[in-house]
Amino acid sequence: MTKEWYEQPFVFPKWANYLLPGVVIAVVGGLFYVPTVVGLGASPQMTAVGYQPVQPVPYSHALHAGKLGIDCRYCHTTVEKAAFAAIPPTETCMNCHTNIRTQSQALAPIRASWATGKPVEWIKIHDLPHYVYFSHEAHVTHGVGCIECHGRIDQMERVYQAKPLSMGWCLDCHRDPGPHLRPKNVAVTDMNWTPSANPPEEESPAELLKDYSIHDTAYMQSCSTCHR
Ligand code: HEC
Ligand code: HEC
Ligand code: HEC
Ligand code: HEC
Ligand code: HEC
Repeated sequence: MTKEWYEQPFVFPKWANYLLPGVVIAVVGGLFYVPTVVGLGASPQMTAVGYQPVQPVPYSHALHAGKLGIDCRYCHTTVEKAAFAAIPPTETCMNCHTNIRTQSQALAPIRASWATGKPVEWIKIHDLPHYVYFSHEAHVTHGVGCIECHGRIDQMERVYQAKPLSMGWCLDCHRDPGPHLRPKNVAVTDMNWTPSANPPEEESPAELLKDYSIHDTAYMQSCSTCHR
């Protein structure tokens, strides 16, 4: 008498053997895949906010731009004229450090760079994908302060990325830039200025848009403005 199917011991059919490697790959792969995707998605290089690499020299913006009050443009000389904000060459540091702190260990890589002519390899922090067009000049000549996109650099011992720099974040401002603009008599590098800091002289957002002849909102949001 043959047994009912449910009374027989369960056996995989022979062809199932061929499936086994696939199952193993799927299970093991899955174990790695999920943390990898989640991990990469959450890592600072991808979301970028908070990305704060250790630089070859412990240069402090809090000291130089904050306490000593050196203007950003003393070092980032191209920021008003070009898309790219130049990172200062060693020579800029040596303007002062040939005389100041000449024995400092922290400055040893700067002296070595000066002696050899090999530039310091600063690690880039803010980095848009190559398919995005961005220009510093377009922003800082139209009343957008450094603080809008970089936060309180003048308080950072070590620079980190303060804002997402994502498409949604760019568009948040491009939809309605007026409230983000500062009057022409306020330097874009002034980190202490806020719209409420000097209400009597303050121009309205609408006046600022007109003063700077800002493009209309359709242009500001058009794909080809940032993807060209
Ligand atoms: C004395 C020179 C000097 C001054 C003044 C200065 N910086 Fe810098 N800045 C540097 C150097 C050197 C680096 C590269 C090392 C680092 O990231 O700290 C840098 C890096 C940066 C970065 C990050 C660049 C990247 O890799 O993404 C930003 C943003 C920045 N500076 C903004 C500012 C702003 C805003 C000010 C004014 C409040 C300012 N800096 C003043 C020298 C200077
Ligand atoms: C306008 C003058 C000036 C310039 C330009 C300048 N520094 Fe300085 N730096 C100073 C002063 C002043 C101090 C503080 C010295 C002290 O505390 O006694 C200092 C301190 C430092 C220190 C700390 C040294 C220590 O032993 O703690 C480092 C590191 C440093 N600077 C790096 C740089 C780098 C890198 C650059 C170029 C990107 C640069 N500085 C450009 C004036 C300058
Ligand atoms: C509208 C936003 C915005 C403003 C305003 C702005 N930045 Fe930037 N900054 C960026 C972005 C985005 C990057 C990364 C650019 C890239 O990867 O192509 C960047 C990069 C930099 C860098 C690294 C070099 C480079 O160009 O990639 C420096 C230095 C810098 N900014 C300094 C400044 C200073 C100084 C000011 C004010 C005078 C300023 N930025 C104003 C958004 C801004
Ligand atoms: C805080 C406000 C603000 C933020 C944030 C901002 N922008 Fe702008 N953007 C402006 C203003 C204002 C102008 C000047 C518009 C004009 O010239 O009419 C401008 C101009 C531009 C232009 C030049 C347009 C042209 O053809 O003249 C480009 C490209 C651009 N932005 C890209 C970006 C990208 C990419 C980001 C994000 C990484 C960004 N912007 C973030 C306010 C902002
Ligand atoms: C104000 C600037 C700006 C405008 C306007 C803009 N983008 Fe983007 N876009 C960006 C930035 C910045 C990124 C990079 C985002 C990142 O790295 O997280 C991006 C990324 C993208 C990506 C890559 C996919 C992704 O999500 O990372 C696509 C696709 C894209 N944009 C399509 C468009 C289209 C379509 C339009 C018009 C409807 C448009 N963009 C308008 C700034 C802009």
